[in-house]
Amino acid sequence: MADFGREHGLMLRQDYFGDPSAWQALVDLLQDTFSIDVNLQASFGDPDPTSMPFGYFDSDGRCVANFTVFSMPMMINGRTVKAAGYQSGAVRPEWRGRGLYRDLMQRAFAWAIAEGFELDMLLTSKPVLYEGYGFKTVPQHVFVATKPKPVTSSTVARTLSLQATDDLRLMKALLERRKPVSRQFAVARQMEMFHLNACFDPAIQLTAISDDAIVVWTIDGNVFRLLDIAATAIPSLQTILSALDVEPARIEICFPPDLLDCGDIELEPYESSIPLMVRGKAANEITGPLMLSPMAEF
Ligand SMILES: CC(C)(COP(=O)(O)OP(=O)(O)OC[C@H]1O[C@@H](n2cnc3c(N)ncnc32)[C@H](O)[C@@H]1OP(=O)(O)O)[C@@H](O)C(=O)NCCC(=O)NCCS
Repeated sequence: MADFGREHGLMLRQDYFGDPSAWQALVDLLQDTFSIDVNLQASFGDPDPTSMPFGYFDSDGRCVANFTVFSMPMMINGRTVKAAGYQSGAVRPEWRGRGLYRDLMQRAFAWAIAEGFELDMLLTSKPVLYEGYGFKTVPQHVFVATKPKPVTSSTVARTLSLQATDDLRLMKALLERRKPVSRQFAVARQMEMFHLNACFDPAIQLTAISDDAIVVWTIDGNVFRLLDIAATAIPSLQTILSALDVEPARIEICFPPDLLDCGDIELEPYESSIPLMVRGKAANEITGPLMLSPMAEF
């Protein structure tokens, strides 16, 4: 592939997260483009080591365009699938419309194919950008559960804080050892986005219901939303609600609840302005209703 940047006086850089000033230049690009601070993850550790960023930098070291691939193994219908996620796609306004993003997409997709990823995933507000490369939107659903009978719980639930070192350590340890929250469709391993998503939304509660299980949830009036469970064994919905000591009028589960032992479920379409798109040879293994846990959003 020709070095497209040379004719624009830009430098193409790949795999540059080890250079702190280049990483900071990407942080700035994402702050300016999306108003998000991805440096929040610094309290949790380094950027995802599986990341392969592709970026164009100007002579002042500013990152003017970027597109990153990272590894996000998925559990799909009982099989661990080698999946790639694409994120941090942005071009500074003054550089748009010249083909920089097309160039970076093509490099990233070619790299992922050479690495043997079976599934490519992305979340985007501009699906049309990716349709030409074979990405298709996957419908998502929220799983509405019937209220289980409350049981008396002897569990002492503990609210975790993203500011407490010990709590972060527990979170990290469990994310490393976690069991996928669903056998149908769930992240098998990815921890950096879990942490960032927890930072981004202050309504998210992280509660340890045992040494081996962190429940991630929100409560909005009478609506309880179960976002994820980082655990070595997935507890039942009944166990979770009893341990959290909540009795909501409505229970929404934001991932396939096949491991939650929760009885009747109603499906409601999840209308998102940022649809999930997939392509690749494992894409047709994705069947049935699903939702990507909000803690895995990227
Ligand atoms: C979207 C964005 C990355 C495009 O960057 P760019 O360098 O101007 O794009 P390019 O010039 O390389 O164009 C690449 C292709 O995308 C198309 N495209 C560009 N901007 C688009 C837009 N806003 N909506 C739809 N398609 C667009 C182009 O027509 C071109 O299509 P082609 O390859 O079939 O000819 C840039 O406008 C941006 O950073 N926007 C804000 C952040 C954003 O939306 N990021 C992507 C979200 S996942």
